[in-house]
Amino acid sequence: MRLKITVLPGDGVGPEVTRQAVRILRAVGDLSGFEFRLDEQPIGGQAIRETGNPLPPQTLDACLASDAVLLGAVGAPEFDPLPPSRRPESGLLQLRLALGGFVNLRPVRAYAPLLNCSPLRAEVAQGADILVVRELLGGLYFGQPRGRNGSSAANTMRYTEAEIERVARFAFDQARRRRKKVTSVDKANVLEVSQLWRHVVTRVADDYPDVKLDHLYVDACAMHLVTNPRRFDVVLTENLFGDILSDEAAVITGSLGMLGSASVGGTVGLYEPVHGSAPDIAGRGIANPLGAIASAAMLLRYSANLDDEAREIETAICAVLENPAGYRTADLCGHGRVARQHQVSTSEMGSLVEEVLVQSLDRQHAYHAV
Ligand code: IPM
Ligand code: MN
Repeated sequence: MRLKITVLPGDGVGPEVTRQAVRILRAVGDLSGFEFRLDEQPIGGQAIRETGNPLPPQTLDACLASDAVLLGAVGAPEFDPLPPSRRPESGLLQLRLALGGFVNLRPVRAYAPLLNCSPLRAEVAQGADILVVRELLGGLYFGQPRGRNGSSAANTMRYTEAEIERVARFAFDQARRRRKKVTSVDKANVLEVSQLWRHVVTRVADDYPDVKLDHLYVDACAMHLVTNPRRFDVVLTENLFGDILSDEAAVITGSLGMLGSASVGGTVGLYEPVHGSAPDIAGRGIANPLGAIASAAMLLRYSANLDDEAREIETAICAVLENPAGYRTADLCGHGRVARQHQVSTSEMGSLVEEVLVQSLDRQHAYHAV
């Protein structure tokens, strides 16, 4: 098997965490004999500095010609005064549009060994296992008209039935493989676009009689996520609501640094941690690479059909967290309630995961060889 992966480290902590995800992909490649061809390209602030463009044509072409794209993060404070269209983030948004992945999958789990890292009480977070399905190519992020005109400015939240239907089907298909429950999140008490959303999702649900559907307003959902997270299985929502709710849901896990994501349904899958470029901690080797590594696992699952290898990576992440030595990056060390902790750097965390992964893949190969 051959896999062409374009790697876009981007800004802030992006390069540091991506390096660890790449190391994990290389380890899988070496051990399983797959040929992973990794090609690095600039995006975001780094690309603006080098070429004046947050998504240079060469980067876009490389992504379109690959089997999957692994991205770190984009965004840098020096570009804060610029209008949205000239900021690093616009490079990512253009890329998402070009690759066509309209479904953004963001799994959120309460890892048992991290229960003490969450500001939520352990008995609240415990056992939570949520898949946020965020629509990625519509809504306020892309709706027209948009713009600023002197003292007023506007953005448009617009969805077509077709855009809602395709992401809803994806969410119901995912729910079938999980606990068979979809919670659709909207603001149908105020917004016409949310009324259409609810109407279409309800219609799609008719085709999935085995999946339970409920609807929540986004404000209520925000509350339930941190008071009763176990009530959720699949959370289906539009672009901006999904952006906000996934950061909030990260609180269940203990750190935004833990979450990975997959943008699928288009021509080329795009994989990126949910966290941003975190310029305040960039370059210090303390960022959590597990979200980036989890994204690499999703890349193998969704763009290469390597579900076993993906699961091995996820198991290795759990094993490192469960190690009695208490290996934690700084973001997971803040709440002094943990009995025993050993703070590790970004690259130490990557190497711990790699070690466990190599051992288990080695064992499997030894097994298959006899
Ligand atoms: C995310 C990020 C992006 C988004 C930004 C960087 C454009 O916050 O992936 O959640 O808003 O989608
Ligand atoms: Mn976000």
